[in-house]
Amino acid sequence: MTTFTKLSDEETPTISVHASRRLSKINPNIYSGFTEHMGRCIYGGIYDPGNPLSDENGFRKDVLEALKELNIPVVRYPGGNFTATYHWLDGVGPKDQRPARPELAWLGTETNQFGTDEFLKWCEMLGAEPYLCLNFGTGTLDEAMAWVEYCNGTGNTYYANLRRKNGREKPYNVKYWALGNETWGPWQIEQMTKEAYAHKAYQWAKALKLLDPNIILILCGQDGTASWDYYTLKHCLQPTKATLNSNPVPLIDMHSIHMYTASSKHLPNATAPLAAERAIEITSSLIDLARIENGISPDEPRPTICFDEWNVWDPVRAEGSKGAEESYTLSDALAVGVFLNVFVRKSKDLGMACIAQSVNVISPLMTTRDGIVKQTTWWPLWLFSRFMRGWTIGAHVSCGAYEGETSPAWLRGVKDTPWLDVSAALGDDGFVNVVVVNIHETKDFKTNVKGVSGGPVTVYTVTGADVSATNMKGKQEVGVQESTWDGKGSYVFPKHSLTLLRWKAE
Ligand code: AHR
Repeated sequence: MTTFTKLSDEETPTISVHASRRLSKINPNIYSGFTEHMGRCIYGGIYDPGNPLSDENGFRKDVLEALKELNIPVVRYPGGNFTATYHWLDGVGPKDQRPARPELAWLGTETNQFGTDEFLKWCEMLGAEPYLCLNFGTGTLDEAMAWVEYCNGTGNTYYANLRRKNGREKPYNVKYWALGNETWGPWQIEQMTKEAYAHKAYQWAKALKLLDPNIILILCGQDGTASWDYYTLKHCLQPTKATLNSNPVPLIDMHSIHMYTASSKHLPNATAPLAAERAIEITSSLIDLARIENGISPDEPRPTICFDEWNVWDPVRAEGSKGAEESYTLSDALAVGVFLNVFVRKSKDLGMACIAQSVNVISPLMTTRDGIVKQTTWWPLWLFSRFMRGWTIGAHVSCGAYEGETSPAWLRGVKDTPWLDVSAALGDDGFVNVVVVNIHETKDFKTNVKGVSGGPVTVYTVTGADVSATNMKGKQEVGVQESTWDGKGSYVFPKHSLTLLRWKAE
């Protein structure tokens, strides 16, 4: 948690870091990814058979190697909106017998050449756990149970045997399963009312947990601030004993929320992810409210929030049906830095967060036929995943604040938007890591940094010539520079930059 005192722009900012105030563990799953059958994410992104850069499975080796640098713990699949008409059986077995189908979320053709076994193998090669999203549109409960059995079944049963027949003897043990995706959205095939969704999700959860009590089920929320979130939590978070007498395990383990932010103006763009912070706080309260209203015993585990789609995305400038390929700027990289600061500050409530998406589609990583490009937004993600682990620790920032318009507009009324956005962590290696995003377009801030222990401080800086700098014009205009600081007195946080300070705790 980072607390804030607002100063005038003329006063000198101070950041105080308290390494001994360990607040909550940072779940490594906040650095998770997402791959959807959309645009060039799967085909031409992670799967590109025939390309000299691909291996014998058709997996792009350069993509796998790059993603390994991010140490991604979990990858969500196969969507997104795509899941609403996806029948997983189309994507298993001999490739020449798999049907091509019309695809209705992004209006293409799904060849099914990449399916469950390919994805799960790819995850194993990446070293990440899979997270599968069930079809709540045209799918049935039978089909969902069959998918769980195919992936996890150990007995002599039909779908476990089908997996064996398809070449995989041991179960995949897929732990994370989503009860649909954005089922509230008008763009969704079989859009549902909150009442209809909550009823169905609860009933499916019973059957799925009876089939495999070890799975983690994730309820489909909205953005955390909607009556949908309240209603679905209230209906589905029930005392465990009332739900599965024969096998009492909690039915719902996590509540999912999504948020994409964007503005063509730098400051509304860079501050927009603070809306995610308020959304997490509200969702967290709704979880508690449902538990209180439904009389859930304090002994029962408290569901966490699964922020399983987040990013900077303007769907008008990067349309979904055209592949949603964003050309990210430095401003967007700073926004991604603020998103990640939010996730570190709110680590107490977050069980997972998945950047949407991992390759080509609104992604920090792009492919061409002959290589990859790391976008501006790659670098904050890379720094956070490398260093912002362990514990969230207490920090206090005193500085001036941006006071103009925000996106969404409601953000202005509910949160401060300081020039310096800060999170702090204490790693298991005993190092303190502090990220400071200076969103100001023209002003460097000479800042008193308190709480730094004697030794040298390693400094990583992400910046560029101006907020419109991009890596998508044939050269890398935004990357990471490493330097050192003696840790004494004040540090100057440059205009439009993200800085990570790292020192050994006393
Ligand atoms: O990530 C792109 C799309 O955004 C996903 O398919 C959907 O869930 C969201 O609306």
